[in-house]
Amino acid sequence: MDHAPQLIQERSAPPATLVIFGASGDLTRRKLLPAVDNLARHGRLPDQFALVGVARTPMSDEQFAESALGGKSLLDKRQLAGGVRYVAGGYDDPETYKRLAETLDELDAVRGTSGNRLFYLSTPAGAFEPVINGLAGAGLNQATETSFARLVIEKPYGRDLATARELDGVVHGAFEEHQVFRIDHYLGKDTVQNVLALRFANSIFQPIWDRSWIDHVQITVAETLGVGTRGGFYEGAGAMRDIVQNHVLQVLALALMEPPVSFEGENLRNEKVKLLQAIRLPTDRDVSEAAVRGQYTRGGTREELMAGYREEVGVDPLSRTETYAAMRLNVDNWRWAGVPFYVRTGKRLPARLTEVALQFQRPPHLPIPADQLTELDADALILRIQPNEGISLRFGAKVPGHSFRVRTASMNFSYDQTFVEESPEAYERLLLDALIGDASLFIRSDEVQQSWRIVDPIIEHWERDRSPIPSYEAASWGPTDADRLIGRNGRKWRNAS
Ligand code: BG6
Repeated sequence: MDHAPQLIQERSAPPATLVIFGASGDLTRRKLLPAVDNLARHGRLPDQFALVGVARTPMSDEQFAESALGGKSLLDKRQLAGGVRYVAGGYDDPETYKRLAETLDELDAVRGTSGNRLFYLSTPAGAFEPVINGLAGAGLNQATETSFARLVIEKPYGRDLATARELDGVVHGAFEEHQVFRIDHYLGKDTVQNVLALRFANSIFQPIWDRSWIDHVQITVAETLGVGTRGGFYEGAGAMRDIVQNHVLQVLALALMEPPVSFEGENLRNEKVKLLQAIRLPTDRDVSEAAVRGQYTRGGTREELMAGYREEVGVDPLSRTETYAAMRLNVDNWRWAGVPFYVRTGKRLPARLTEVALQFQRPPHLPIPADQLTELDADALILRIQPNEGISLRFGAKVPGHSFRVRTASMNFSYDQTFVEESPEAYERLLLDALIGDASLFIRSDEVQQSWRIVDPIIEHWERDRSPIPSYEAASWGPTDADRLIGRNGRKWRNAS
């Protein structure tokens, strides 16, 4: 039986062993081991905690314990001293799982980890199936009356609806859904969780959070970076699969869903699924009206010239992979019917910026002469996910002086200036939640399937369309088609300068 989630106030891990597959990989080094280090430093791990890395690359326990922390060792931490192991082996070799099982039993005996195991799949997606089958073959998928066995899975979860269902088949062949924790690291960000706080811990926003007040919503995930060293991976993904299918649709679901009864896992996820189900799919005929892709070309300044996507390492010089995607979505329910939602994401844009902007309708009548209103934008509420984490409310205010000029002003809430507490890294928060058994910030099987249902028709349409892929210069705000997409109804993207 799986353990019930602990009370929020306690928020420290129970006795357990964290097993990371893909232990010599990039994500483990950059995110997971630093997250374990932070959890230990912040006193969130008990003395009965152990960490096991599994990968093909040969390494000693000590080398693994040092691999992320620049010469410092996880073994120096009181909670981890003597509790870090490394198992080298092939993912499809039953011997690997036999040795892993022995290591886990030994740790239970010497560390008191109580048979609780959290298996973290941080491998390339191709290894998910052999690892899950290997775990099941060694009986490591079995929870008992007194201990848990949980599986954390990184993205990509499939590459379309059909492959996501196949993967679910493999996962559910070994683990029950309540044992499965699918990660979207955006949900580990405090500012993404703050969308819930803003909407449901306050009364003033709820009445205006619907079609009677909101003209449209823009969700932007803009990155300044290119694909860097991940060209090989990105070629098989593209912006739609890499960001829209997961991060963008998750943020959208939290921003638009109905109030849940509680933030407990099933209640919260039921509301997200209902919202995703209400998203109307573009028909083949209107995909070109509702979705735009782009690929960055060489650009920047003379001092900082940036390579085009096709020149990046690991990228096909004739690649048709999109590094930019924008679309207009409609949500067919009582709250949102008729309100357009514009979402976009891109690499090599001029600013790193993730935000949700709700733009309100213009007043029905303005008793002010038009020539006094030249600098008045529509009212807007902007949830800044990153950077400059916070919220702004934009509205019109009278300009000081003898005439009645009205200009846009804004009120700002900034995380930095308001709170002394620091935000944990997304991975730190999510690892702790998975150890505790709180699934509310993880993605349920039906959510993944709904998200693929939404993006699949657009990706398929693009794959069939052989016309040249629209381009945009590195460090510009995407292809001009994206301006036309939103401009069709007289609207404009909010492009930060
Ligand atoms: C990852 C994508 O999921 O999110 C990357 O695979 C992207 O391509 C990253 O750069 C963005 O995450 P963050 O937290 O930096 O916004």
